[in-house]
Amino acid sequence: MSTKIEISTQTERYVINFGILEKLELGEYSKVLLVTNHVVGGLHLDRVMSKITHQDLSILLLDDGEENKNFVTLQKIIDFALQKQLDRKSVMIALGGGVISDIVGFASGIYQRGIAFINIPTTLLAQVDASVGGKTGINTTYGKNLVGLFHQPSAVYIDTDFLQTLPTREFISGIAEIIKIAVCFDFEFFAFLEKCDLKNPQDLQKAVQKSVALKAKVVAKDEKERGVRAGLNYGHTFGHVIELETEYKKYLHGEAVAMGILMANVLAYKEGLLTLQEKDRIFQLLQTYGLALHYEIKNTELFYQKFFLDKKTQNQKLHFVLPDGIGNVRICNDIAKDRIMEVLGEFS
Ligand code: NAD
Ligand code: GLY
Repeated sequence: MSTKIEISTQTERYVINFGILEKLELGEYSKVLLVTNHVVGGLHLDRVMSKITHQDLSILLLDDGEENKNFVTLQKIIDFALQKQLDRKSVMIALGGGVISDIVGFASGIYQRGIAFINIPTTLLAQVDASVGGKTGINTTYGKNLVGLFHQPSAVYIDTDFLQTLPTREFISGIAEIIKIAVCFDFEFFAFLEKCDLKNPQDLQKAVQKSVALKAKVVAKDEKERGVRAGLNYGHTFGHVIELETEYKKYLHGEAVAMGILMANVLAYKEGLLTLQEKDRIFQLLQTYGLALHYEIKNTELFYQKFFLDKKTQNQKLHFVLPDGIGNVRICNDIAKDRIMEVLGEFS
C-alpha cells in the first residue's frame, strides 16, 4: 500500500512517497539527469527507467564506493550536467545509497546555484536517514562530510523492494539508524522494535515509515541542526572516531554507530540519564541484529583527542548526544574529561 508524508522545512516543502515505485511524473522539468553507480544501475536501472517518461533523460553511472564521494566525482557530475546542458528547470535523480544521495544532492545544490533533485534510496540506511533532510556533501582527505550544504530534495520515493538485493551486512547496518531514532525520539516505537522482526517485510515497512516520519518531524523543526536535529547524531560522536581509527575500512557506518551507541549509553548511565535496565534493553535490541559489537580502544587519550574533529565541537567544547531514558535525547556539553576517560577506559 502506498503512503505519503509531507515535510515542510524553512526552505522546501516536499513529499516522501512509500510503496512500490510507480510512474514518475516529471513533466514540470526541462531535462532529467539520473545518477547512479554501476552496482545499483546493474540491478535496478531498467526498472526505474521503465517508470520515467521524459523526452530528455540522461544517465550517468558512477564508480561504487565511499572512496568516490569526493571532489573528483562531484566534478564529473557537474561536467556531465554542463555537457547535457541542464538548465535551472532541470532535475537530477539520485538512485542509490547514501553515497549517491549525498553527492548528487550536493551537485544539484551548487549546479547553476541550485536545481531540483529527487531521491530514490536503495539501501536501508539511505531510506531511513540519508535520503531525507537535505544534508548533502562529500568527503575530503581531512575527513568525512566536511564539504557540503543543506539542500532539500524535491521528492523522495522509498520502495523497500529495492532492499531485496541489498547484501545482509548492509541491511543490518541500516537497522542501527532505525534503533538510533527510536531511542532518541519514540519509546513506543522502541517497544515495537523489540517485538517485531525487521526481516519480515511488513514489519520492515512499518519501521521504515515510522523512522522517516520521526526524522521528518525533527528536520521540519530544525533544518540546519541548531538544536533538536543534533539528536540524530546519537552514537555518531563515538562512531565517527571508530570509523576514523579503522580508516573507514573495517566497519560499515551503521556498525560504527551501533558501537558508538553502546559507548554513549555507558556515559548516559554514568551521568544518571539512563538506568541499568534501559541500557540493557538497548543492548539487547542491538544484539538481536548482531549489532552489539565490541570496539577495543587501543589508546584512550588519542581516541579522546579525535572527538575534537567532530562537526558538533564548537569553541573546543565537546557535545555529546545522550539518551535521556528511552524516547528522549539530550545534548550535553559540560561533561568532565575524567568522566569521558572513565567511559573510554571501559572499552580499552
Ligand atoms: P552506500 O551508498 O555506499 O551503499 C552501500 C553499498 O550497497 C554500495 O556498494 C552500493 O552500491 C550498494 N547498494 C545500494 N543499493 C543496493 C541495492 N538495492 N542492492 C544491492 N546493492 C546496493 O552506503 P549507505 O550505507 O547507503 O550510505 C552511507 C553514506 O551515507 C555515507 O557516505 C554517509 O556519510 C551518508 N549518510 C548521509 C546521511 C544524510 O543525512 N545525508 C545520513 C546517514 C548517512
Ligand atoms: N543523519 C543525521 C541528520 O540527517 O541530521
